[in-house]
Formats: sequence, structure tokens, C-alpha cells
Amino acid sequence: MKKALIAPSVLSADFGNLQRDVEMINNSEADWFHIDIMDGVFVPNISFGMPVLQAITKHAKKTIDVHLMIVNPDQYIKTFAELGATNLTVHYEACTHLHRTLQAIKAEGMKAGVALNPHTNVSLLEDVINDIDVVCMMSVNPGFGGQSFIENTYNKVKKLKDIITKNGASTLIEIDGGVNDKNAGKLLAAGADVLVAGNFVFKSDNPTETIAKLKEITAK
Ligand code: DX5
Ligand code: ZN
Repeated sequence: MKKALIAPSVLSADFGNLQRDVEMINNSEADWFHIDIMDGVFVPNISFGMPVLQAITKHAKKTIDVHLMIVNPDQYIKTFAELGATNLTVHYEACTHLHRTLQAIKAEGMKAGVALNPHTNVSLLEDVINDIDVVCMMSVNPGFGGQSFIENTYNKVKKLKDIITKNGASTLIEIDGGVNDKNAGKLLAAGADVLVAGNFVFKSDNPTETIAKLKEITAK
């Protein structure tokens, strides 16, 4: 039975106890660390930058999935590789030459991801789908943790899954925003592979158990 890869979003962690929260993820059933970098230009919020990422990667023992919500991501590809990113995801809406950006990410030895805002049609990725390792499907408008899940996401996941299958690609579908135990099963059934969860994990009484609970969920 298909189980999701679980990627807790560090954005919702306690930054005063960052090492504790990183170790919690290390010792949990989570698969990836999801790291949200926001520049206050592409999105109306600023999260954190290189020094904090460095502090995280120093202790993190799992895949480092970096989600760039910034303009001009090409400028920082090399830096994120040096900081230990495993996956580097750029926004479709921030890239004029997306194909070139994807090649540049891979040339630095990272997996290439593309994030799509809720209004962006998945068909726009068809011609580069074989070049994309992960599509990060935004199920909220990017910029903040703790927002409500947008229901149209299920339709988008199904359409994207069809494109991936039709083109024989091995692209993973990652869902980012408002993920919880109520929508996880339906997302898996629609074709999702990776579930990002920020608030649902970190605002729960027992984040380790919440991660295990998400990991247990199967397609329905
Ligand atoms: C939103 C970020 C998300 C966010 C998810 O812009 O990309 O990764 O941290 O947080 P929740 O799960 O709380 O919606
Ligand atoms: Zn994210």
C-alpha cells in the first residue's frame, strides 16, 4: 500500500529551540526536512536565510528539501548546494527561463523542484516534466504557515499525475500548505507522493506521534 513521504515544515518550529526540533524530526518517521525561504518580495513575508539553514543542516540527518519563495533564484543556486540542500525548488512564477534554471540546479548535484501557485495551471509544466524531480503543488498561497487547504488542489494533483504518467516521467508530487489527517488520504488517492506539514505537526501536543499518524495514512 502506498504511503506518503512526510516532510515537516521547519517554518512552524520553535526557533528558540531549533536544535531540539531538528532532532525531533531526525528521530521521527519523517522523510524530509521542508525548508521555506521567503524574501519579502516574491511573497509578503520574510522567513530566514543562509545562517539559519546552515544551523539546520548541521544537525539534520534526512533529505533537505529547500523551497525558495524568492525572485531571481538562479543567483543563489550554488550557495544552496554548498549549504547542503538535497532538493532545490524554485517557483514557476519566478523563473523566466525555467528549463535553464532546472539544468543549473542539477549541475550542482541537487534534485530540481518546481513549485506552482494555486492559480498556475499544471499543464504549463508538460514540456519540462521529464526535467523535474519534484513538483511542489501549493495548496495555499505561499508566504505563511497555518492557512486553510484549497480544495481545488485535488483536481490539480489528478491532472498533474496524468501528465507525469503520459510522459513516462518519475516526477514526485509534493503537497504544500494546510495538510492534515483529514485531507492526506484523499491527496494520496489523487496521486500525491510527498506531504509537507507545518502547523499540523508543530502545533500538535506530540509532534513525533503526529508525524507517525500522517505516515500511517493510506490512499482513500
Ligand atoms: C507556505 C510554506 C509552507 C508552510 C506549510 O508558504 O511554503 O511550507 O510552511 O505550513 P502549513 O502546513 O502550516 O500550512
Ligand atoms: Zn513550503
